[in-house]
Amino acid sequence: LFIPRISAVSRSPILIEKESFDSSFYAFPKNFSFGASTAAYQIEGAWNEDGKGQSIWDTFTHNHPDMIADGTNGDIGDDSYHHYLDDIKALKEVGFEHYRFSVSWARIFPNGTIVNKKGFDYYHKLLDQLIVNNIEPVVTMLHYDIPQWVQDYGGFLNPYFVKYFKLYAQTLYTEFGSKVKIWITFNEPYESCVEGYSAGTSPPLINLRGTGEYICAHNVLLAHAAAYDTYKKLFKNDQRGMVGITLDSRFYFPKNPLEGSDIVNRAMNFELGWFAHPIFSKNGDYPQVMIDEINERSNQEGRPFSRLPEMSNQVKEFIRGSADFLGFNYYSSRYVEFDNSEYDPTSQPTIYQDSRIKTSIDENWKRAKSEWLYSVPQGLHDALVWIKNEYNNIPVIITENGWSDSGELEDDDRINYYKEHLISVAKAINIEKCNVLGYTAWSIIDNFEWRKGFSERFVQDAFLQLNQYNGLDHKNDIAIIEMPSSFNTT
Ligand code: NOJ
Repeated sequence: LFIPRISAVSRSPILIEKESFDSSFYAFPKNFSFGASTAAYQIEGAWNEDGKGQSIWDTFTHNHPDMIADGTNGDIGDDSYHHYLDDIKALKEVGFEHYRFSVSWARIFPNGTIVNKKGFDYYHKLLDQLIVNNIEPVVTMLHYDIPQWVQDYGGFLNPYFVKYFKLYAQTLYTEFGSKVKIWITFNEPYESCVEGYSAGTSPPLINLRGTGEYICAHNVLLAHAAAYDTYKKLFKNDQRGMVGITLDSRFYFPKNPLEGSDIVNRAMNFELGWFAHPIFSKNGDYPQVMIDEINERSNQEGRPFSRLPEMSNQVKEFIRGSADFLGFNYYSSRYVEFDNSEYDPTSQPTIYQDSRIKTSIDENWKRAKSEWLYSVPQGLHDALVWIKNEYNNIPVIITENGWSDSGELEDDDRINYYKEHLISVAKAINIEKCNVLGYTAWSIIDNFEWRKGFSERFVQDAFLQLNQYNGLDHKNDIAIIEMPSSFNTT
């Protein structure tokens, strides 16, 4: 029986107690890996040190402190740039076996396509220490913070983005490929495209409802595929790693049982499927429901073509199969029903209105500090099963899952959240035979939660906890049977 010990992500060192497990169905496979995740802008700080260029998050937080809940920014963040050894110590202390972090593109290419060699040093030191500590690095290439110079060329809206990203990816493979075997091209492009290019509520604050998000996603998919293709052609033989993408999605339960799986599929396809279908489905392309729906609406709006970019056969082929695994960020779920309200063609719909769904919550779900975060462990289970059925049981790494509060010292809710979600994962693996390789908690250290600053905390003060942990004698209560070995990357 393999029981994870991921306790330092919560105040109590005991996350999972033996009694919780009454059958071997709650065991995790031998080479299943447990880890924690962070992102460059959220923890590194050192925003202008050693030649680092500005990212869109530097620009945004400096220009609009009023748009951050507590007026903070990532200039210093958790100062991991100087304290990465402490982060690794915390990871080690908990017993994590992998660490997902992201590289700051603007450290490597501060102001154009000339490399900042100093930018490599930090990541080499970090990687070397992880390896010495036997913690597998999982490296995200882009976690929201695109360099300002890339943005100045139009960011995700410029087809040239694909070339810049490909160059960046190739540089990372060349420099770090001997140390990194698990690559993630993008983190949560759904959020970047919807918040950044459609709603305009996050940097780069572009408000192009109903078009911006789709063009953004199209270029992201192409850039992702280009990075995958580059690895496959030039690096895979020697480096033998894997390249994937991290997508986020809620799971959707039918509010009206009569609408059954149709409405679930519609909601899932307009969120996860938007990016996953072109990459992981048998035939590639966007989900049919998106193609049909957006085409029809574009017609009604009197447009000569669909707001959803069309994929040529060549493009479909290029994107299809361009990932060795799916990184999946799961936090919460919703109920969903069909939205029958009449469509106003002048309303500038977003992807959400295009999907013609209405979502709601169950009053009984426990809510975290983050207003969008309700604890729905069943949703993680059902999402994994949905992914398995939809995409032929592709390998999945859960790259994020976690719970926010305001930094209270009591965190029973977080403990329960982790416990229940891990049980969901174990069931999905053991009963439904879902192909899940690992689980990654968000996070190992409290960090800059984007527009919420430090007001929403996903760990509290990890170091304080660890100190307490060391002072308490809970060790005998923890069911550590055997730490599973790292991902099998071959
Ligand atoms: C998803 C994002 O990838 C991460 O940056 C963020 O902090 C967490 N979710 C929590 O909201």
